[in-house]
Order: sequence, then structure tokens, then C-alpha cells
Amino acid sequence: MDYIRFGRTELNVSVMGLGCGGPSRIGMSADKSEAESVNIVRHAFDAGVNFIDTSEVYKTEGFIGKALQEVGRDKIVISTKVNYRGEFSPAVLRERLEGSLKRLNTDYIDIYNLHGVDPDDYAQLRDEILPTFQDLRDEGKIRFIGVTEMFGEDTNHDMLRQSLPEDDVWDVVMLGFNILNQSARDILRLTQERDVAIQLMYAVRRALSQPDKLIESIQTLIDEGQLNPDDLNMEDPLGFLLKESDATSIVDAAYRFCRYEPGVHVVLSGTGNPEHLQSNIESLNRGPLPDALIEKLRRIFQHATAVNGN
Ligand SMILES: NC(=O)c1ccc[n+]([C@@H]2O[C@H](COP(=O)([O-])OP(=O)(O)OC[C@H]3O[C@@H](n4cnc5c(N)ncnc54)[C@H](OP(=O)(O)O)[C@@H]3O)[C@@H](O)[C@H]2O)c1
Repeated sequence: MDYIRFGRTELNVSVMGLGCGGPSRIGMSADKSEAESVNIVRHAFDAGVNFIDTSEVYKTEGFIGKALQEVGRDKIVISTKVNYRGEFSPAVLRERLEGSLKRLNTDYIDIYNLHGVDPDDYAQLRDEILPTFQDLRDEGKIRFIGVTEMFGEDTNHDMLRQSLPEDDVWDVVMLGFNILNQSARDILRLTQERDVAIQLMYAVRRALSQPDKLIESIQTLIDEGQLNPDDLNMEDPLGFLLKESDATSIVDAAYRFCRYEPGVHVVLSGTGNPEHLQSNIESLNRGPLPDALIEKLRRIFQHATAVNGN
């Protein structure tokens, strides 16, 4: 497993982070047994993954708490998130954090994030809630403060475009980026200047793992005028990735493309399938795609913002 300095946090983290939400929720969405989900977490830890992302809303914190008991709390960097929707206040934030600490079986969180912030909610959360995050950090309950965007809807990063230039208060940012939507590149330039740590989500979801979903996303980009149809063969739009590199699959190429994007630290990968977990670990530890291929992908998708890859 390769490791990397996690921006200003100075933590040393694995380049792959185990994502415990997403479509699979480490198997829970496919009704796998608790033992199977715990085994996915264990397998990741055994392979050297030392970074794990979850949230109170995923209902996976309890599994992680169990798997953590075996490895030792200080060996793993935990990122979890608080859901601010519904009734929310500094007091509710404190209660929610206590719930996460209990389920995760720990007395501190490494990275505590505001989960999926809507651009319209950002200013109010910064003014009314962020000070309590800072108090919690001073009290030692959390080590670093993070924010995650709502990339499913906010595909051109409006929340981060609004917040980051103004407020240098986030140690860690989670953003969406993949071959089909590379629009976070200018945000990554800013976070590099500020040494902000980046967790990347959406490297692979349905469009990069299921051929019919890929065609749908490509068609959307063409319909929106964000992709030139002459640049791709619609029968096998990303088939050239396998011809012009040593990539073993589109998924393999998609993870490697994200891992080597300047400014990216941890690429999150979630699955309920042990074979996918193993192959994703291998992909994220392979070398970069050839420069000419990266350039080609940058050029073809340079205007694409209308899809998130789901
Ligand atoms: N706003 C937010 O804060 C937010 C939003 C979304 C995600 N997240 C976090 O980011 C993490 C990553 O999320 P993500 O959106 O990138 O999705 P993800 O959780 O990494 O899910 C990847 C999807 O692709 C499939 N897959 C994985 N490896 C595969 C392979 N080798 N071959 C074929 N299919 C494969 C998985 O299905 P299988 O189970 O079948 O492998 C899964 O459905 C999440 O787990 C969560 O922790 C945060």
C-alpha cells in the first residue's frame, strides 16, 4: 500500500480510503450479513488501508467500531460526518458527535465533516455551526474539521466555489471528481496552495463500472453540448483506455486517473464485494496512466460538468 502526507493535517494516510457509504455501504445495501461487512473492513485494514470514511447516516459506524477493536484505534484515521438536515443546532451537533463516538467505540474522531453541504446552506452553517466544530477540536473530541460537497446534485461544485476562496477554515475537503467530470481541477489548484487535504469521491460509480450507464452519461454530455461526439466511438466510448495503456479495465483506469490528479490525497472506494475490494486496492497502487492518455481525457472532457458518473 502506498501512503501519502494528508495535507496540513500531517497525517500519513493510505492512498486508498475505504468508503463506507456510496451505493454499497460495504455490502449493507445488498443485504449482506454483518459478518460479511466487518470482513470487508478487516480485509482493507489487512491490506494496509488506514483511512476509512463513514457518516452517521450510512449506519456503518457500528461495523467499523467492531473492526477497529482488532487493529487498535491509533492505527486508523477515521473520517465521519454529521447530517445537518432537519432540526440542527450546536447542541444537536454535540449530541450527534457523542452518538458517532459511541458507535465507533472511540473517544475522538480524526476528521469530522459537515455532510453534503448545499450551496444555499453554506453561509448559515459557517456562521452558526462552525464555531462549535472549533470548540470540539479545542476539547480534543475531533482533530480536524472537514466539509463534503453534495456532488450528486452540485456537479459544478457551487458550494466549494463559494466557500473556499473566502474561508480558510476547512482542513479537509471531500469533492467529486472522475474521468467524466473533471471540473474540480481549479478547486484542486486552490486547495494545493492552501495545503488542504482532499478526499476524492465518485472516482467510480455506475457510469464507469456499467457499460449501459456509461453510454447514458456520454449521451447527456453530448445533449448538453459539453462533449464533441466526434471524439468518441459511441459503441465503446472509453474502449481506447485499454488500447492506449496497460489498464486492465475501465474501473482500473478510472481509479488510477484519480489517484494521480495533482492535489488529490485519498481516493475513496466503497464496495460490498471482496473481489472488487482487492482489485481496487491493486488499481490504486499501480502507476499512472500514460501522459498522452491523460492529456486526451483532459481534452475530451474539458467542458463536462453535467454528469456525476452515477
Ligand atoms: N456527500 C458525501 O459526503 C458523499 C457522497 C457520496 C459518497 N461519499 C463517500 O465517498 C465514498 C466513495 O463513494 P463513491 O460515490 O465514490 O462510491 P463508492 O462507495 O466507492 O461505490 C462504488 C460503486 O462501484 C461499484 N464498484 C466498486 N468497485 C468495483 C469494481 N472493481 N468493479 C465493478 N464495480 C465496482 C460498487 O459496487 P459493488 O459493491 O458491487 O462493488 C459501488 O456500487 C462513499 O463510500 C462514502 O464514504 C460521501
